[in-house]
Amino acid sequence: MCGIVAYIGQRRAAPLILDGLQRLEYRGYDSAGIGLMDSAGSFELHRSVGRVAALAESFEAGKISATLGIGHTRWATHGGVTVSNAHPQLSCHGQFLLVHNGVIENFRELRQFLVEREYSFASDTDTEVLVNWIEFCYRQESGVGIGILPQALRKALKGVQGTYGLALLCRDFPGTLLAARNGSPLLIGVGKEEHIVASDAAAIVTHTSQVIYLRDRELALMSGDELQVSTLQAEKVLTQVCAIDWAAEEVQKGPHEHYMHKEIHEQAQAITEALRGHVDERLASTRFGGIEPLAQELRGLHRLIFCACGSAWHACLEAEYLIEHYARIPVEVEYASEFRYRHPPLARHTLVIVVSQSGETLDTLAALAEAKRRGCSVMGITNVIGSSIARETDCGIYQHAGPEMGVASTKAFTSQLCLLAMLAIHLGRLRDLDYDEGLAFLRALRELPQKIEETLRLEQEISELAQRYAAHEQMLFLGRQTLFPIALEGALKLKEIAYVQAQGYPIAEMKHGPIALISEKCPSFIFETQASLFPKTRSNIQEIRARRGKVILVTTPDIPCDAGECEEHVVVPKTHPALQPILAIIPAQFFAYHVALLRGCDVDRPRNLAKSVTVE
Ligand code: M6R
Repeated sequence: MCGIVAYIGQRRAAPLILDGLQRLEYRGYDSAGIGLMDSAGSFELHRSVGRVAALAESFEAGKISATLGIGHTRWATHGGVTVSNAHPQLSCHGQFLLVHNGVIENFRELRQFLVEREYSFASDTDTEVLVNWIEFCYRQESGVGIGILPQALRKALKGVQGTYGLALLCRDFPGTLLAARNGSPLLIGVGKEEHIVASDAAAIVTHTSQVIYLRDRELALMSGDELQVSTLQAEKVLTQVCAIDWAAEEVQKGPHEHYMHKEIHEQAQAITEALRGHVDERLASTRFGGIEPLAQELRGLHRLIFCACGSAWHACLEAEYLIEHYARIPVEVEYASEFRYRHPPLARHTLVIVVSQSGETLDTLAALAEAKRRGCSVMGITNVIGSSIARETDCGIYQHAGPEMGVASTKAFTSQLCLLAMLAIHLGRLRDLDYDEGLAFLRALRELPQKIEETLRLEQEISELAQRYAAHEQMLFLGRQTLFPIALEGALKLKEIAYVQAQGYPIAEMKHGPIALISEKCPSFIFETQASLFPKTRSNIQEIRARRGKVILVTTPDIPCDAGECEEHVVVPKTHPALQPILAIIPAQFFAYHVALLRGCDVDRPRNLAKSVTVE
């Protein structure tokens, strides 16, 4: 949530920061700003409401010679969307300029403390409180030389409750950039005589693949091409430079109009990457090197708890069906935001699995911390190498789906579904799942990318269908068993990018309430791929149509649906039951995408949302 880019080096900072902000815009896009410092210590500040493009148009970045600067794209938390609330925020006496992600929870107390000392404020933000608090602490420090700067910042940050990822400039030290993190991601790209600080790799990858991940309660001091990292306790940190495995072109849209469209079409590739190295023909099973440290524990598991948010939570719900069916291990699926404040009994032999595309979702990180505090081993499934979840879990599996830039999750979701199905089979084979069943799954797994390609060819048909439904303001998504999480996910996609009131339900649950919504104004999107259960679904369809509700039905070719039984019939290829949800969701992704386009919505930057939710 919110994107930070800061630069120190030999190049002109302004164009580079603007370019980085544009790549991070999916993290927040209600306002943006940039602050530059010249060699004499003068600040130049540009801020505007709206997209980064509006900021870029408001001044001539290429003409500014400063080689040091900080930038921000905002997702508002404290204070409305106004220029004065945009970052960077300047301290009252003009000594510090700050960009900040996260939430300062004790900002009211700090503000009151500062007001009593004649500090004044021009914005409603907690960030302005923080920059003034830093200035106050700096002014209390005695001493000279650069050391005073990290010293003051440490003191200030120790007095702060909440989360931050920040980049800071000080007028008294013109060639110096500071960065610090606690709970909001921050990494430092290491180039030739330059450093680029950013909230995620997308802003860095076009310049360098070498990065240092800052950890919580660490701060970095960069001057010239030197970098020193230390803790809030002033202990020196030996940094490790890691390589980002994303290619620069992966963060670009290429021929696609939107990231979401690109990412829907990348699903066969993402699944191919998810399979790589995880298929064990000899054992008729799947294997995961990353979870070896827990091999013993996995054999004796009594219970699994999944924690996640949003689409990742839907993927976990799918895992509940599959793991209970194939591995016979009781599974619970918790919203990470609920788990952290509940007090669930966590008996021995319980493993917690957290799933997160970004690896930075604050609620999921908090659930992880709570599970560890309660003595559980925690496994992670995440797409972003080096992310907080990857670093803080005991072991885990990387999705390798490539960067997902669209705010609506698509390829990361299906890659999670695939990995979780593979995990179900892995756990099943560790217990009493039959050898032949394992082999049948592996066979289907190998054919899956090809079947995804076939399903993607439905786009034209679904875009035409979308035209007939784009004007509806409400819709139901209905499915049974493993297609119930798909119904939830289909509804979420339509809700978040097309702003249609869409609800997902188990289909048989419809008659217990949602049926009251059915009318010619509320169509239903129904998933059914189990031939044995189709007679039941057929009855539900009739109940809907008897009330003038229209039906869009997604099935496999073996479902005996007669012409005229529904308004629209979309057929996806047949695959193994554990993998069928992956094919079933694709028509719903296309539907949401095309309905959103027809309704004139900004598909990649839906209102009020951000890709990576790093606040509570
Ligand atoms: O990065 P994460 O997987 O932890 O993100 C979780 C949710 O914020 C995310 O899935 C969100 O619901 C998406 N907008 C769904 O499309």
